[in-house]
Amino acid sequence: MFHSLSVAPPDPILGLTDIFNKDPRSEKINLTVGVYKDESGKTPILESVKLAEARLLEDEKSKGYLGIEGLPEYLKLVTELALEGIVDLARVAAAQTPGGTGALRVGAEMIGTHFPGTRIWVSNPTWANHNSIFAAAKLAVETYPYLSTDKTSLGLGEMLDHLSKNGRPNDFVCLHACCHNPTGIDPTADDWNKIAGLMKEKQMIPYIDYAYQGFGDGIVEDGLGIRKLLEACPESVLCSSFSKNFGLYSERVGAVMVINQSPDDTRATLSQLKQTVRANYSNPPRHGAATVAAILGDSNLRKTWEHEVTAMRTRISSMRNDFVAGMKAATSKRDFTFLLKQKGMFSYTGLTALQADWLRNERAIYLVGTGRINVAGISPSNLPKLCQAIADCLNETSS
Ligand code: LMR
Repeated sequence: MFHSLSVAPPDPILGLTDIFNKDPRSEKINLTVGVYKDESGKTPILESVKLAEARLLEDEKSKGYLGIEGLPEYLKLVTELALEGIVDLARVAAAQTPGGTGALRVGAEMIGTHFPGTRIWVSNPTWANHNSIFAAAKLAVETYPYLSTDKTSLGLGEMLDHLSKNGRPNDFVCLHACCHNPTGIDPTADDWNKIAGLMKEKQMIPYIDYAYQGFGDGIVEDGLGIRKLLEACPESVLCSSFSKNFGLYSERVGAVMVINQSPDDTRATLSQLKQTVRANYSNPPRHGAATVAAILGDSNLRKTWEHEVTAMRTRISSMRNDFVAGMKAATSKRDFTFLLKQKGMFSYTGLTALQADWLRNERAIYLVGTGRINVAGISPSNLPKLCQAIADCLNETSS
């Protein structure tokens, strides 16, 4: 049987890191996968995490299974982190999941099982894995336009027009709460009002990916779009990831939260989420979730963590500014100032797949084929080389 299998294409994001790791060139720069790096190019373990882990090691009494839905104190704290003051938390059914990917998948599979053929609209472009996750969960994936024609800002008119003409009641619409991946281009408060208004009018249901809370404008501020959507729509799904904001990438910590019309619905919703989890991985791992719960549940650790998130956000934003200034100094061939309006880890540079190939082959600089760069991978030491290489690339590849 397996003899008949053909080789699957490499993952468009993680596949590049495999190639990067094998690249023998010493000056190589990896701007592909969305992982935070500090000034020295390292992905640090946060101080708050180290302190929480030390406590856990001391206090942990058992490695017994968690309940199917996960660690109760973690679920309470992360639900509050995302939704307190936005909705009545009694309306929320939540399950701990392995990362944001697990959250997206559990929520989608629960929907696909009970409402087969349900459509979900994803932005074009979106995180490449959205398509795979939703298709694997048996949802019908459709796309809506996201960018303006010159790809430097949100094409709100086209987006709303498309969803208005083609959307139907009970279609899901996948929206990135903040720090849109891959573009870094987010709706403004007024844009969110219009998006939420349309969702309400068409009776469509938000399916919100919240992988970068704290990386846009702030831990609380990044909930603005969620607030607008949840005020307008009686039901929603929210998928949180703590890979980025707690630096817990390899611990796989996330949560799926289904916001129900009324508290009465949560019992059934949670039971169906649990069925989905049980049939997938039975119950989630403890360590990462216990770490997040220890931090959020302790006022000192929480303060330390909030400072650390601010520091990560500030460093990324200053690297984005320096990159734009560096490109201005290095070339007059293209104006990169539109990047200054982008938020979060990623920037859509407008570089083509051909130019990404050129940068990889000629200069050992890795970016995703869509022209997305991980701004958090830029540091003062690699910035000059990066800007010069892109300037050379524009000279070599433009007609
Ligand atoms: C990314 O977009 O680079 C991250 O979300 C990591 C991943 O799993 O793709």
